[in-house]
Amino acid sequence: MTNIRVAPDVATLARQAADTIQNLANTSISQAGRFSIALSGGSTPKTLFQLLAAEYKQKIDWKNTQVFWSDERCVPPDDADSNYKMARETLLEIVPLPASNIYRIKGELEPADGATQYDETLRSYFHDQLPRFDLIMLGMGDDGHTASLFPGTDAVNERQRWVIPNHVVSAKQTWRITLTVPVVNNAANVMFLVAGTGKAERLKQVIQGEFKPNELPSQLIKPTDGNLIWAIDQAAASLL
Ligand code: 6PG
Repeated sequence: MTNIRVAPDVATLARQAADTIQNLANTSISQAGRFSIALSGGSTPKTLFQLLAAEYKQKIDWKNTQVFWSDERCVPPDDADSNYKMARETLLEIVPLPASNIYRIKGELEPADGATQYDETLRSYFHDQLPRFDLIMLGMGDDGHTASLFPGTDAVNERQRWVIPNHVVSAKQTWRITLTVPVVNNAANVMFLVAGTGKAERLKQVIQGEFKPNELPSQLIKPTDGNLIWAIDQAAASLL
């Protein structure tokens, strides 16, 4: 099921996303004793992470929450571009989440080695079965990419491996490590978080335009047995 949810502003977008995360965490933990979430990178999630660390610090069972990433830049964990660093500083070191519940993508390694290590982490956690995250969070770039599945790159067409390194010329960080489409589409829930007028034109193309996945990789995200939520603010939704 696809749900397009438009919030009037970024603060409301963050609050609605935090409520979704709280509800999914409560359901997953009550049913299975744990909640697996893959965080998205970039700048959009920062407001959400700060809200989770503040008003949701006591509302979510962080000790049974398992934190992964949808993708990572190939930089050290203390680098300004690290998705892990942003999440650690705004959320993970504030909420009572055990360090053992954090499954960082090791961007400091050679890209292929970092991808292999994260693949092994997923195989261990998901017992060698295709990972089925309770929630995968995604952003969308103004070029239509998501995670580190950038237009025209081989990563867009990868259907066997779960995690791959991707050489990305367009992005500032030339090497990334990313979950692949099969893993994302096997999630129970996928939530895009998209904000700002800069995304409006591309979002219209992705959601309402011609299916051109090699140019618009975000169009490939269709959970096979799960829910897709487009959590967007009014600015990004202005052309829909
Ligand atoms: C990353 C992300 C990437 C991001 C989009 C949107 O590592 O950069 O995973 O897919 O979500 O590029 O980024 P912004 O939120 O900064 O616009």
